[in-house]
Amino acid sequence: MQKINSFEEFQSEYKKSVENPEKFWAEKAKSFLWKRLWDKVLDWDFEEPKVKWFEGAKLNISENCLDRHLESLADKTAILWEPNHPSEEAKHISYSELHTRVSRFSNVLKSLGVVKGDRIALYMPMVPELTIAVLACARIGAIHSVVFAGFSAKALADRINDSSCKLLITADGSYRGAKTLDLKPIVDIALESCPSIEHAIVLERISSKPTMKAHRDLWWHELIEGVSSVCEATIMDAEDELFILYTSGSTGKPKGVVHSTAGYMVYAEYSFRNVFQYEGNDVFWCTADIGWITGHSYVIYGPLLAGATTLMFEGIPTFPDAGRFWEVIDKHQVNIFYTAPTAIRALEACGLDFVKPYKLDSLKVLGTVGEPINEEAWQWYHKHIGKEKCPIVDTWWQTETGGMMIAPLAGITQLKPMYATLPLPGIQPCLVDAEGKEIIGNGVEGNLCIKYPWPSMIRTIYGDHKRCNEVYFSTNPGKYFTGDGCKRDEDGFYRITGRVDDVINVSGHRIGTAEVEDAINTHRLVVESAVVGFPHPIKGQGIYAFVITSDLNGPSELIKSEIIVEICGHIGAIAKPEQIQFVNGLPKTRSGKIMRRILRKIASGEKENFGDTTTLLDPEVVQQIVKSLN
Ligand code: WTA
Repeated sequence: MQKINSFEEFQSEYKKSVENPEKFWAEKAKSFLWKRLWDKVLDWDFEEPKVKWFEGAKLNISENCLDRHLESLADKTAILWEPNHPSEEAKHISYSELHTRVSRFSNVLKSLGVVKGDRIALYMPMVPELTIAVLACARIGAIHSVVFAGFSAKALADRINDSSCKLLITADGSYRGAKTLDLKPIVDIALESCPSIEHAIVLERISSKPTMKAHRDLWWHELIEGVSSVCEATIMDAEDELFILYTSGSTGKPKGVVHSTAGYMVYAEYSFRNVFQYEGNDVFWCTADIGWITGHSYVIYGPLLAGATTLMFEGIPTFPDAGRFWEVIDKHQVNIFYTAPTAIRALEACGLDFVKPYKLDSLKVLGTVGEPINEEAWQWYHKHIGKEKCPIVDTWWQTETGGMMIAPLAGITQLKPMYATLPLPGIQPCLVDAEGKEIIGNGVEGNLCIKYPWPSMIRTIYGDHKRCNEVYFSTNPGKYFTGDGCKRDEDGFYRITGRVDDVINVSGHRIGTAEVEDAINTHRLVVESAVVGFPHPIKGQGIYAFVITSDLNGPSELIKSEIIVEICGHIGAIAKPEQIQFVNGLPKTRSGKIMRRILRKIASGEKENFGDTTTLLDPEVVQQIVKSLN
């Protein structure tokens, strides 16, 4: 696949992509390995919604990630794995070795009765076997559902049950900085309530010798012994489901976002090559965990489709000290580095002494993703990491979009700190007002929608197409609604301002306020709660919980800590509130709706100026809450 090389070319490509999207994407799709070409490039109707790309085509994405490169790149490093502990040796896994290991593990899955269309849950640390398992699922047509290994047993079980997974692939535990975490005991609790799971495959990582349930639990290393490394890839239809990835929404139940095969594949490679301006020998490092979409698209699929070397990091940015990222960049001569603003802010706060020992002269391109980046963090990243010579690509996209949507092309698009800049070819964003009317012109602000399909867009919510329609396609009929607020400046450049729904973005992770409230409300002494986000210097947003307790002794530190235990049990430590405030009442409208706008103001330190409070059932409540703060 060719990449765009100049701004003029970008403009002409963009124009072509809007004037004739089908011709444009058919052209981009040519370089892949197809078993059969498509009959129709695009069939769509946002009312149902229905989106089908490359219908009639047959392919396998793992063949496109692996087999396609064997002739020219067999010995090239596909995965460069850096372990948690610097004293453990890094691993270089070539394309041919990866092909062998994926094929062998595919045969293991087959021998356990996994067939095309089965759902497989993965709950693993950042080790090469996670990528191998993902690609093995794809190779035999099983639908992978990766669950971030920081989620609790209940969250894991909910996700497994929502899509009735047949198999779980996990590990005995993981290393995270100085800590060793046992995963298997969490899995054991989860599997008590997962009737669809037939087996758990357990990778040995921390040698914790967990209990293995007879017949159900199987060791990875025992299963692969003596298994053939030849596995023909299952031929898939373009629209066959590739994976499910759960993400938070504005109700308590996470949504299983479904992506399909061909469109996702084409867009993952296209966006990877163009935004990062990837060149043949670049070492690419995306720091995201594979438990999130960024890890799916830019640790695994995008880079491997492009035949790149993708660095996979098991550890955390602050272990053994806050120079780890920079040390790894020098050690492996990383050329393109892609991380989250929250990590940049956290490392900035640790001071320059952790940056100074490193040269960082291999870097060519820097990127950010997951949340808005503030000016100060942008400048620090630009000056101290990029040495003022690396473009920063601030990439806006979502689990639902599959790939980067609004982003500069490195070194090609003019940069503006805090701006995701311009849409990629094929992407047609628009801003709408509160009534859903499109806002035309520049120097405007509104809710961000996309008005035309792109190849890697969400196809459905697993088992709930109606919800998919309601959440994304009904608010603004005829358009995909992103849930984000956005500005378009005088030059037509886009700047994402944050979520406009009840989702909080904590350290780049989406947390639904309703999910946290549901967890808090399970505490026996909680009458009601309301959760909002507030600005946090490192995490972007923090979680603030207002809680009404029925405890006759009144609020106490004990209840607070018990509430935190509930949240960790229901969701995981990522959803821990920064603040829990006990209140006597919540600001509600006469129809019983909580006015979160007011709570958000209180949480961010506002003591007055709450705007119009006349629609509140009891306006007094607001002052009471503010007073209880002192
Ligand atoms: C936010 C992550 C500002 C946004 C790929 C979006 C961003 C949500 C940016 C998706 C950015 C992501 N600037 N905000 N560059 N990138 N977001 O599904 O609110 O984990 O809707 O996908 O993160 O988060 P998700």
